[in-house]
Formats: sequence, structure tokens, C-alpha cells
Amino acid sequence: MKLPRLILAPLRGVTTRCFRETFAPELREAGFEEATTPFLPAMVGFNPAKERELEMPQSIPITPQFIGKSPEALRECLRRVKDLGFATADLNAGCPFPMVRNKGRGAGLLKTPDVLERMVAVGCETMGEGAFSVKTRLGVESPDELAGLVETFNRYPLRYLAVHARTARQMYEGECDGARLREIVALSLAPVVANGDIGLPVEGDSQPVMVGRAFLRHLGSRADSRELLARYAAALGERLCGEAQVVGKLKELLMYWRHLPRWKRLWPVLKLARTAAEIVV
Ligand SMILES: Cc1cc2nc3c(=O)[nH]c(=O)nc-3n(C[C@H](O)[C@H](O)[C@H](O)COP(=O)(O)O)c2cc1C
Repeated sequence: MKLPRLILAPLRGVTTRCFRETFAPELREAGFEEATTPFLPAMVGFNPAKERELEMPQSIPITPQFIGKSPEALRECLRRVKDLGFATADLNAGCPFPMVRNKGRGAGLLKTPDVLERMVAVGCETMGEGAFSVKTRLGVESPDELAGLVETFNRYPLRYLAVHARTARQMYEGECDGARLREIVALSLAPVVANGDIGLPVEGDSQPVMVGRAFLRHLGSRADSRELLARYAAALGERLCGEAQVVGKLKELLMYWRHLPRWKRLWPVLKLARTAAEIVV
């Protein structure tokens, strides 16, 4: 299976199905060929038919992402999404939040290599060769940790290893570590998808990359950003139950626009707005 050159990064609460459907034309225009969904819990009893994230249609092909630490629960979830027709799936081994990672999920999996290996084994076995991927970070405390785990990943036919080139401890602060990322590229048998602070447009014929926040900023810097915001407000209005929720989602997107020349002066007013109409003027 050929890898997409540009994948939309999962941003929980932001790059939801509603967002992806609303901005599908802009995503395509920017070169995105696929999106990884924000994480879904890998839990026993998971019912994909109830997940809005996975509802059809999906204008941009998606790979469902799961977070968890139970190989058996993961197996059940993967069987169910496969039955629904999804050909690929992804494991979240990078969520940096202490509440998640201290319980051994997300980036916490890097601290329990035996559990990580069983999750990867179950993923590859259930989805099939070249159909299961892992999204991770360079480490939890130190950027050297992932290099020590590549040998484990190399035992399995992963679709790719997506690496956000920071440690979990860094959260979203500080620089990405390009040198460490290149080290992983050299060690990994699976293709490495680079992630973290990559801008748009992506230059040249690079390796596959995953981009998140730069696409959000791209939307805000477009000449038609006001219309895009109005389109999003309308789509959110149809999906969400109350004005407060719509306003919350709009502000979440505007947070990524607040430093852009076009939006900088408006932000102090917009952040106080209580209705969508005040935002979409
Ligand atoms: C608000 C927010 C939510 C995120 N949610 C997820 C998630 O559900 N799963 C995941 O693997 N990464 C998640 N991430 C990490 C991003 O996918 C990505 O790795 C990170 O933003 C770096 O890429 P970027 O600089 O291109 O945005 C999230 C990041 C942010 C800022």
C-alpha cells in the first residue's frame, strides 16, 4: 500500500469529522491525502457504529486511532473497525498528558515495552501486514528512548511509525529534535512519518509527513478565512446541541489564528464573544 505524502495529524477536539468534512476542499487543496482521527479509547464493548468520528461519508480517507494498554481490548476494537470496512488503524503511543501516560497509555507505553510490543503485535496481526501504524514521540523523559525501542517495532510489519520529534515531558514546548528523528529514520525498517512543527506547503519530494497545527493556521491566513469560519459555524450548529458548544469550538480554532496578522486585532474581542453571531460577523 502506497503511503500518503501528507497526513492530517489528529488533534483531539479540533480535527474532528465535522472539521474534516467542513474543510475537505481546503485539505485537498493543501495536499492532504489522509487523516488520522483523534484518539478513540481502546475499550471492551467499543461500538464503532456509535462513533461520530467514523460515520460515513468521509471526504478525506481516515485511519482510526486508538489509545489504550489492553491488547485484548485493542483486538476487539480493530476487528470491529475492520468489519466496518476500514483498512488501516493506528496506535497512540505519544499522548504526553501525565494523567494518561502515568497510567501506561499514550506515551506511557514507551515505559512498558512489553505492553507496547503486545499492542503492536495484536495491531499488525488483526489489521494485516502494512495496515497498522504507531504514532509516538522521541521518548517520555529523554529523546534517546525511542531509538532503544525501534528494534521492537522492527519485528512487526508496520505501515509506518509517525514520530513527533519531541519528548512527552516537553509537551508542545521547545524545539523539535531533527537529528534524533533522522536517527530513527536510519534505524527503522518501517517508513517514518515525520511530525512536529512542519509548515505548509511541504517542500519538495520529502518523506511522508504529518501536519496538524500548520493547517489550522493556514486556514486563518487564507483570504477567505472569514467565510471559512462562517462555514464552520454553520456545520457546528447542525451537529452540536447548544450555542455554548459552538462558540467553544469556534474559539478553539481562533486560538490558532490569534497571532496571524489578519486576526491579531480581532482576537481580544472575539475571545469574549458569547454567541456564534458575534464571532461570524
Ligand atoms: C489540541 C491537540 C490535540 C491532539 N490530539 C491528539 C490525538 O488525539 N492523538 C495523537 O496522536 N496526537 C494528538 N495531538 C498531537 C498532534 O497530532 C501532533 O503530534 C502535534 O500537534 C505536533 O504536530 P504539529 O506541530 O504539526 O501540530 C494533539 C495535539 C494538540 C495540539
